[in-house]
Amino acid sequence: MDLGLKGRRALVMGASAGLGYAIAEQLVKEGARVAICSRDEGRIREAARRMGASLGVAADLTKPGATKALVEQVVAELGCVDVLVTNTGGPPKGGIEKMTAEQWQEGFQSLWMSVVEGLQAALPGMKERHWGRIILVTSVAAREAMPLLTISNGLRAGLMGLVKTVSNEVAEHGITLNAVQPGYHATERLKELGIPEEKITSQIPARRLGKPEELGALVTFLASEQAAYVTGQSIAIDGGWMRGF
Ligand SMILES: NC(=O)c1ccc[n+]([C@@H]2O[C@H](COP(=O)([O-])OP(=O)(O)OC[C@H]3O[C@@H](n4cnc5c(N)ncnc54)[C@H](OP(=O)(O)O)[C@@H]3O)[C@@H](O)[C@H]2O)c1
Repeated sequence: MDLGLKGRRALVMGASAGLGYAIAEQLVKEGARVAICSRDEGRIREAARRMGASLGVAADLTKPGATKALVEQVVAELGCVDVLVTNTGGPPKGGIEKMTAEQWQEGFQSLWMSVVEGLQAALPGMKERHWGRIILVTSVAAREAMPLLTISNGLRAGLMGLVKTVSNEVAEHGITLNAVQPGYHATERLKELGIPEEKITSQIPARRLGKPEELGALVTFLASEQAAYVTGQSIAIDGGWMRGF
């Protein structure tokens, strides 16, 4: 199936590794011109070279204004942003009494305000061209609290409200906005959380971790021409882990 992404300009945030890398790599394979970002300049340039992305930019999404500046740089270098994928590193793990005010502020900036800044910077151009695809990478934690992921559970639930609100606002302009909610996937982040793999997979009906490229395929479809009528959705990809409807 031709997904209609050839020549489209895409920005994937947090993409030197893990889920962001897998998404960006598939968009490149579909013929999109892709820009990626992460904190470390050497790592992001190397990732861009490896996957064949057009641009690798160093940006720290925990810093106010960084996402706006990133979108502006990509527009300046690639001409526009047709597909925006917001993603960043996961916040630290810990109970409510352990998390500091700085960790909450940093989490809010990177999980929430980077999305808001990205939307505000990318939407005017998408409206002008009457075409846009925005996909937020969040987490199943938005719908089912994960143990000790206090910041993630607390902040990500609210993003579903943002997806519904903004998707309704921009639908008439040919722009869709959806969230994907990963369950447990085989990336560095999972190792960072320090939960034994067998303990996790025993709770997943599919009895295995997700592959980053499976999530990449879902996001690529949501970015496609064919997904024009899918908007305002928060879609879990979790091998059946979430038991609720
Ligand atoms: N993997 C899972 O099982 C899972 C499940 C649910 C939700 N999630 C969420 O999905 C997101 C991606 O997860 P992942 O597993 O792909 O994580 P990962 O393997 O740790 O990769 C995170 C990527 O984001 C970049 N990054 C981290 N902090 C950044 C920052 N402040 N500014 C810019 N880039 C930053 C990293 O590059 P640098 O370090 O070079 O900056 C890396 O490229 C996270 O928010 C995670 O919490 C993951």
